[in-house]
Amino acid sequence: MRRLLVLLAVLWVCDGVKFGQLCSSNPSNSRRTSDRWGQGQYGAGRGTRLHQGLDIKCRDGAAVYAPFDVTLNGRLTVYTDPNKAAINEGINLSGEGLCFKLFYVRPDRTSGTVKKGQRIGTMLPMQSVYPGITSHVHVQMCDRMIDPTQYF
Ligand SMILES: *[C@@H]1O[C@H](CO)[C@@H](O)[C@H](O)[C@H]1NC(C)=O
Repeated sequence: MRRLLVLLAVLWVCDGVKFGQLCSSNPSNSRRTSDRWGQGQYGAGRGTRLHQGLDIKCRDGAAVYAPFDVTLNGRLTVYTDPNKAAINEGINLSGEGLCFKLFYVRPDRTSGTVKKGQRIGTMLPMQSVYPGITSHVHVQMCDRMIDPTQYF
């Protein structure tokens, strides 16, 4: 019994934070793999840069949910390019000891707290900017050197 408890304690410590469902159209947080515009994993090529987030599939117009209890830290703009204005919103969040950002989401609110599974915003119309892409929420840690994949 004692050994079992020690094992459970170790598993609990190692298991760490996992994101709950982010998008109403994607109950399993499945990831964007590859499409005509690129690949969704952290570290994928983006021209001369590297992709500094992880893309989680989400249909245009879908509801976006808090993946755990979160504090809203304000709105973000994603691009400077006016041709991408339709999807140029995001939100900065913290919770479970993590600070992270969601891109391409129009926030319902930009301050306060939201419980896991409650709505935080709406997926913007990505197809209108990138026709044929796998529409997705981009998840990026505030410290861009940290790979968010470990939390999925
Ligand atoms: C996100 O919010 C955190 C916590 O308030 C802050 O430290 C960080 O600078 C913010 N990042 C951006 C890009 O707004």
